[in-house]
Amino acid sequence: MERTFVMVKPDGVQRGLIGEVISRFEKKGLKLVAARFESLTDDRVQEQYREHLERPFFPGLKAYITSGPVFLMVWEGKNVVPVVRLLVGATNPAEALPGTIRGDFALDIGRNVIHASDSDASAEREIKIHFNDTDLIAYAACAEPMIYE
Ligand code: RTP
Ligand code: MG
Repeated sequence: MERTFVMVKPDGVQRGLIGEVISRFEKKGLKLVAARFESLTDDRVQEQYREHLERPFFPGLKAYITSGPVFLMVWEGKNVVPVVRLLVGATNPAEALPGTIRGDFALDIGRNVIHASDSDASAEREIKIHFNDTDLIAYAACAEPMIYE
């Protein structure tokens, strides 16, 4: 089964949205396989967002992501990478559709509540930045026959 990396950013944590985010993914039928609450170091943020290192917005992005604790998760499910990106919504919350996390809970591109991997390759890379293999919990999800054909 595919996996993706998701992070509730410091604004999402401070605004009390961790439970809302988890709840939406649970209700969708996705399976949580790892989670951790912590503050990220500059090194980890640079590794996480390495494709943006040279962008003009990177210093602001790094200051934002290191401004407080984040909630890191790995979710599993069929087509989980594109499915989670749809649930998260467009990068700019002003363009994110209602019903998406960014569409419902954010206004500014620099405070958009949540990160989610944008491809299977990114997901594999990002999971390894934040989690060890032993952090990823294998277990049977009882509802699976009700979620998958
Ligand atoms: P993320 O990686 O956080 O899930 O967001 P994303 O894929 O939707 O967007 P991406 O292009 O990867 O941008 C990463 C994060 O950088 C901030 N950003 N600011 N001021 C700007 O023009 C700008 N562009 C991007 C956002 O916080 C975005 O989520
Ligand atoms: Mg991205």
